[in-house]
Amino acid sequence: MTLERTLSIIKPDGISRNLIGAVIGHFERAGLRVVAARMRRLGRPEAERFYAVHHSRPFFASLVDYMTSGPVLVQVLEGEDAVRKNRELMGATDPARAAPGTIRREWGESIERNLVHGSDSLETAREEIHFFFGAIDVCDRTDP
Ligand code: CMP
Repeated sequence: MTLERTLSIIKPDGISRNLIGAVIGHFERAGLRVVAARMRRLGRPEAERFYAVHHSRPFFASLVDYMTSGPVLVQVLEGEDAVRKNRELMGATDPARAAPGTIRREWGESIERNLVHGSDSLETAREEIHFFFGAIDVCDRTDP
């Protein structure tokens, strides 16, 4: 098993409902560490670029509206098997289908307002981390 990094976003509903600590607690209890974090209000062009892969989907405009409706917390999580672990902790995209105990099942309101985003592969994680952070923003938290 290798140490991986993945991108996590706490979406506007997670911020407005004051769930930052609850969500990060989930990650930390599972052994993931936050190695970079920044609160951002995404602009429309930025949100459109981030979700470009979905641009032809019927929900794209609404997704961009939602992701630009308030601040988000973008984070880099590090840990063994971090990409898969983060997705397991988030649960399925649709909170109604997410397993009990997952972040989306606990707090997600709908398939769109599903509280968190997480990279879906190691390659996507590299691209998504690079989208928001430079090397200087990511801290080395390996024990001395
Ligand atoms: P996320 O993991 O951030 O990736 C794409 C996002 O699009 C997803 O979470 C949801 O917020 C949203 N999404 C995916 N499928 C749908 C859908 N069928 N209807 C509305 N929003 C969706």
